[in-house]
Amino acid sequence: MMPTGDRLLSLTVTLLGFLGPSAIGLTPRVSFPMGSPGRRLTRFGGADVGNATTLLLGDGGDTLYVGARDAVLALDVGHQDAMVLRNKLDWRPSEKDLEQCSMKGKKMTDCPNFIRVLLFLNATHIYACGTFAFSPRCIYINSETLTVSLKPDEGRGRCPYDPYQRNTAIVVDGELYTGTVADYRGNWPLISRHLSEGSRVDLKLDDTLGWLEDPTFISSSFIPDEGKIYFFFSEVGREYDFIDKFIVSRVSQVCTSDVGGQRTLQRRWTTFAKAQLLCQAPGELPYNVVQDIDSLPPAEGAPADDTLFYGIFTSQWSVNSGLSAVCAFSLSAIKSAFSGGYKVLNRDTLQWSTRVQERVANPGECGLHNASDNALRYVKENFLADDSVRPAGGGLTLVSAEHRYTHLAVQRVRAADGAEYAVLFLLTESGYLHKAVLLQSGAHVVEEVQVFRQPQRVKSLKLSAAKGLIYVGTSEGVVRVPVANCSFYWTCAHCVLARDPFCGWDAARRACVGVSAAPLGQDVAGGNVEKACQNVALMHTARFGTNNLPAAPCPAGEPVPVSLHEVVRLPCPAASRLSRQSWERPNSRLSPELYLHLDDGSLSFVATPATLGHYLCLSAENGFRQAVAVYHVKQKSGPPPARPDGPESASAAAGQPGPDLTLWMVKAAPGEAAFRDGDPQTSARTPSYLKELVTVSVLLALCLGALTLLLLYVLKQRWRSRTAPQQVAAESDRRTPVEREALRGGPAQGERNGHVQGALSNGHLPNTPI
Ligand SMILES: *[C@@H]1O[C@H](CO)[C@@H](O)[C@H](O)[C@H]1NC(C)=O
Ligand SMILES: *[C@@H]1O[C@H](CO)[C@@H](O)[C@H](O)[C@H]1NC(C)=O
Ligand SMILES: *[C@@H]1O[C@H](CO)[C@@H](O)[C@H](O)[C@H]1NC(C)=O
Ligand SMILES: *[C@@H]1O[C@H](CO)[C@@H](O)[C@H](O)[C@H]1NC(C)=O
Repeated sequence: MMPTGDRLLSLTVTLLGFLGPSAIGLTPRVSFPMGSPGRRLTRFGGADVGNATTLLLGDGGDTLYVGARDAVLALDVGHQDAMVLRNKLDWRPSEKDLEQCSMKGKKMTDCPNFIRVLLFLNATHIYACGTFAFSPRCIYINSETLTVSLKPDEGRGRCPYDPYQRNTAIVVDGELYTGTVADYRGNWPLISRHLSEGSRVDLKLDDTLGWLEDPTFISSSFIPDEGKIYFFFSEVGREYDFIDKFIVSRVSQVCTSDVGGQRTLQRRWTTFAKAQLLCQAPGELPYNVVQDIDSLPPAEGAPADDTLFYGIFTSQWSVNSGLSAVCAFSLSAIKSAFSGGYKVLNRDTLQWSTRVQERVANPGECGLHNASDNALRYVKENFLADDSVRPAGGGLTLVSAEHRYTHLAVQRVRAADGAEYAVLFLLTESGYLHKAVLLQSGAHVVEEVQVFRQPQRVKSLKLSAAKGLIYVGTSEGVVRVPVANCSFYWTCAHCVLARDPFCGWDAARRACVGVSAAPLGQDVAGGNVEKACQNVALMHTARFGTNNLPAAPCPAGEPVPVSLHEVVRLPCPAASRLSRQSWERPNSRLSPELYLHLDDGSLSFVATPATLGHYLCLSAENGFRQAVAVYHVKQKSGPPPARPDGPESASAAAGQPGPDLTLWMVKAAPGEAAFRDGDPQTSARTPSYLKELVTVSVLLALCLGALTLLLLYVLKQRWRSRTAPQQVAAESDRRTPVEREALRGGPAQGERNGHVQGALSNGHLPNTPI
């Protein structure tokens, strides 16, 4: 299959606006490119800190430990404007180790020690593991002095050999639980426990077929109420054996109380079970490959079952409408999958089935160490849950058609009115951090902040909710981003339209401030400015035609001196990416013959006596209109022009306020017209050579427009033929054989098991394949 065909298709989908509701409104409302004054970042980089793969926040959030290349660093992050190196532990392989590594055929750049595990073991010590020249090793580090205590442990099963392999690790009660590959070649994936003492023994997976199938480990999470650790990973879904290498996302569990069996499953997990995580929209192929998971603890007072696991998923199938999706899974849904039925593996045919069998034990149940051999054999064979875990609320949390998200962090934020919102921080592949608040109506992306320029191979994300900071680790160092900068919004309207649960308008201080106990103007759910800014004098709502406002002297407006017949361009900086700009003149229609509305919102026209006068640029967003700029276009001083016919332009040209100009009270607030990149003060002045430029631009724009229309028409035809029911054959031809197979269902498989899988024509992948 040609990938270009897909690109074309997704482009068509975007252009024709066929995206589902979840994909609407995912444009970040405001964007802060690197170096924006509105969003100052703090960086720590340089020679000290290459490949900052692993981040660990010290208690209190004033120390950030960084696992980097050949080093562990302790950064003092308690200062506002800088992250300061406090301690550094050099931990690099010897020349001899490096030599051996490269003799084994490894690239020299992959032979350093990449720190991949960095966790608090207890109050005083950190446990760290690194790839150490393809011979993993672990050490105990004093967290205060950053010195090594005790001698190093072998890191096999705790840390990958290869720095490009993903792993996960978590410490619970001084024991280390890991998911990683445990051999040099990377063929032996393992979920295991280490550092157990006394009657507790180190545990690992049994070598039984199919416990893990070429997994990529993503994350792990401990739920104290359950006494369980959950691992998240993707792997080959062997139960879908009609598709070659179909990837599925999984959650698996083990109990911390597990000590293995007495005869059967000695030193092996007796509590391992796994289930599929299904992030799928109706009528679409699943987003089957999990990229990252973060957990959101339940609200205060709510049961642990309400814990949510938010995950980023991408699709193996190129026909999905989005590049990445976010799904949330509740702990209760995961528990219910594990307490249901389990699939059976036929060891001769290597086929999974849901054959009904006598239930000898409950797989996944804690406390099986004293169980009979029979029961243990049963749990050893039955570890793949029949039911998939479906997203909370039944659908996808969001789908992004433009961005490939790689990492996320989630936080619960209490808004000014006491309501709580989940806020997602999503890192894009291209280096932007999106902040999305989850509303009843869907996700709203409050802002995006550029944190790095070049795509980074290594990334990590750490949220310090207590301090309101996010740390992003990359190949080049660490970047710190405050969760919000409320003072960027300088009017109540801007503050409320942002719908940022972190920010509200303080009427007394006349400032957009971080949410605290005091009552603030805020409406996260609706973004309703009239409601939220009731007590604030709304200076910017006026518009022409409403005469019930008190008469005010005509505001000066930004004077724009012009010569007749010169092309004038009045800029109108966008208040946000979600706003729509429009232009108004008192008592006059802006006829399309005379005025050109440019794509960037600015207005262009030729200065004639009829076009001299006042202009108002309005920005409408979420049902609220505000003035962004006011201009007064007048002829450059010189001989007064002949009095033109139009009464309105007459008075304007003469610099006199017309009788209907009473509403010019909407003079932009200080600073307002200078919104970000556009500064009307300077850019409104138009040298006359612009005239030619505009003419050429207009012609070019017309040509481009015609081309676009043609392209759209062609694409639309293609889309039509693609979706037309009578051309199903053509449709499936666009898919890869594997995709076609998936959509058709596995007839061979179905027949083998005695009943044919039906109802696949709607594009669903069967959840239960057998
Ligand atoms: C917040 O935004 C204001 C206004 O653009 C800017 O002056 C200030 O430096 C910003 N603060 C931070 C921490 O980004
Ligand atoms: C923490 O663990 C280290 C290494 O096992 C040990 O030496 C130290 O005594 C422990 N500290 C506490 C407070 O338990
Ligand atoms: C398991 O059996 C041993 C000895 O038979 C006993 O000491 C222990 O308490 C039992 N454990 C549980 C959890 O029943
Ligand atoms: C380490 O960082 C460099 C760039 O600084 C990058 O080229 C390399 O791939 C990274 N190595 C690993 C193992 O991530």
